[in-house]
Amino acid sequence: MQCIDIITIFPHMFSPVLDESIMKRAQAKKLIDFRIHDLRNFSKDPHRKVDDRPFGGGPGMVMTPQPLVDAVKKIKGRRKAKVIYMCPGGTTFTQAKAKELAKEKNIIFICGHYEGIDERVREMVVDESISIGDYVLTGGELPAMVVVDALTRLIPGVLGKETSLEDESFEHNLLEYPQYTRPSDFCGKKTPLVLLSGNHQAVKKWRNEQALARTKVFRPDLLNVK
Ligand SMILES: C[S@@+](CC[C@H](N)C(=O)[O-])C[C@H]1O[C@@H](n2cnc3c(N)ncnc32)[C@H](O)[C@@H]1O
Repeated sequence: MQCIDIITIFPHMFSPVLDESIMKRAQAKKLIDFRIHDLRNFSKDPHRKVDDRPFGGGPGMVMTPQPLVDAVKKIKGRRKAKVIYMCPGGTTFTQAKAKELAKEKNIIFICGHYEGIDERVREMVVDESISIGDYVLTGGELPAMVVVDALTRLIPGVLGKETSLEDESFEHNLLEYPQYTRPSDFCGKKTPLVLLSGNHQAVKKWRNEQALARTKVFRPDLLNVK
């Protein structure tokens, strides 16, 4: 079972997401275990402070190194784990990275806040920094949940049909083909006849063509990926 430890100053943000739907089922099946750690519990400050003013001046606050380093060390004392800091300056998250992380035994996520974390935390305990896109959020909690959601569904046994992963967007550098369900005619807009034909080969060919056409229009950059 993979164990995901998340270090945060907002521990209550996680349950509404992690304890629903597929991630709830993955926990029930004992395929993944989430442990949320309140960073303030690791602070040696009498007021449980975890931030301070930046050296050199400037706006905002910076997360102090002591609670973060102690939290990571304590968790690592119990189990080996890769440490990931969620950060706008990290490597952009992709489906390929989700697949890689789904194979990790254990992962510790550090969720930053304010202006981010003291640089020495990275040097001392962080293995990798991941960004979920080129924009700045207020904290690392939503980014951590995005990464955790994407990797959890890739753990074997989590989704009902493993095969449903095969044609998904980003497999074979393509977006997924368009999907249709009942009714076959909705407000005069009809489902392509080939999908109602029962001819599996023709359906497969149509889907491949659609996936390619869609990728050329919306994500031509994917077709240049080696
Ligand atoms: C307001 S941001 C800090 C931004 C930082 N001052 C900068 O300019 O890069 C606070 C925290 O939110 C998280 N965060 C914000 N945007 C993110 C993104 N796109 N991907 C991953 N984490 C992000 C990080 O944990 C970060 O430490």
